[in-house]
Amino acid sequence: METKNIKLDKNIEMAKKAQALIPGGAHTYSKGDDQFPANAPRIIDRGEGAHIYDVDGNKWLDLGMSLGTVILGHAYGPVIEAAQKELSRGCNFVRPSYLEGELAELMNSIIPSAEMVKFGKNGSDAVTAAVKLARAYTGRDYVVRCASDPFNSIHDWFIGSTVMNRGVPEAISNLTLKFEYNNLDSAKALFDQYPGKIACFIFEPIAATEPAPGFLQGLKDLCEKNGSLLIFDEVVSGFRFHIGGAQVIAGVTPHLSAFGKAMANGFSVSALVGQKEFMKLGGLGHDQERVFLLSTTHGGETHSLAASIATIKEIQNKNAIEHFYTTGRLLQEGMRKAAQDSGAAHLVDIIGYGCKPGFSFRNGQGEISAPARTLFMQELCARGILMPYVVPSLAHQQEHLNYAVEAFKDACGVLKKATEEGFEKYLIGDAVKPVFRKFN
Ligand SMILES: Cc1ncc(COP(=O)(O)O)c(C=O)c1O
Repeated sequence: METKNIKLDKNIEMAKKAQALIPGGAHTYSKGDDQFPANAPRIIDRGEGAHIYDVDGNKWLDLGMSLGTVILGHAYGPVIEAAQKELSRGCNFVRPSYLEGELAELMNSIIPSAEMVKFGKNGSDAVTAAVKLARAYTGRDYVVRCASDPFNSIHDWFIGSTVMNRGVPEAISNLTLKFEYNNLDSAKALFDQYPGKIACFIFEPIAATEPAPGFLQGLKDLCEKNGSLLIFDEVVSGFRFHIGGAQVIAGVTPHLSAFGKAMANGFSVSALVGQKEFMKLGGLGHDQERVFLLSTTHGGETHSLAASIATIKEIQNKNAIEHFYTTGRLLQEGMRKAAQDSGAAHLVDIIGYGCKPGFSFRNGQGEISAPARTLFMQELCARGILMPYVVPSLAHQQEHLNYAVEAFKDACGVLKKATEEGFEKYLIGDAVKPVFRKFN
């Protein structure tokens, strides 16, 4: 495959301005320059379907789809029309819009744990509201998160438990404990160590690894036996693994769960959902002490709620979830074959479910390697593909997959050569770095 002659002059100029004016040059750390190879686009102009266009006019096949939010494709007609209709009728009012009840009703009808719903604008707020509610309901302070979850929230209870914990009081960090996924004993040990003190377990119910038989139900039983709440963070898995969330696949209904990312095809909506017994504490219909749950100026923004209703209906009508699984599987198989044909099978790990496939890259010594990952992304960029990770969407069609798999083959070939001749010879910029690190 020919590599493209990509000019990034305007990209570089505009990114310089952004770096000078915005800490990190972007509003999500995972969009930062330290996450992409040097030949990646830096500033995006627009998107359409499975493609995005940068400010120099270069066209890119997008495999990341806006951190997994754009589940149907960029500028997807029926969602845009639903949002536009509400925009022209006013986007926020002093009392709730009819759309709040409408979307809540729709969510209650498809998500097993949803009996009541509270909307927010981002996943972090929904997850943190779940933690707050669990603490309020149980009257306990400790929160247990999963050691292998890369991210659950921007708020202190989570960030304080990472290596990038500067600015979080130690007293807060100390209240967040960690358990191991698929290891019930690690959960039991915490209940033994902190009897009567754990408010909740909060984690992604299914991510890259399949839950071991009985693990999730066992954890729910343990939580209930010990008076704690089970919370699923479905910000990524919601509307991707199943229309009702990964909790449907798991066959386990949590007490509370949080949704976000894909629920409005990129519009800003998130939701805390859960059983009435807990959720009602944030409302007016009880005589207990009040809980300040989610309360945001923009939570009821009409066009985003309309976008969410349209997105959910499109996912249902277009059988989109099945499409995600098939798309991801084809990319996984394509990558496997590309790596084998290039003699690079030992350099690429292929993991995860089709709806959210994962790829990691190794060096010649068999270690997970940032230079290897960067070089792979660099070679895809040279062929017009942006792949910080892969999040299948309805917009990804067979022709895009064929093109991507062709490019995988080239990139695997370069990766193989670099392990023999040195990454410095092939990398044109710095290697990417993990977001969560102590120093720049
Ligand atoms: C699993 C998970 N939970 C929560 C969040 C937070 O979502 P948001 O960025 O919308 O606050 C993220 C974001 O990446 C996530 O991956």
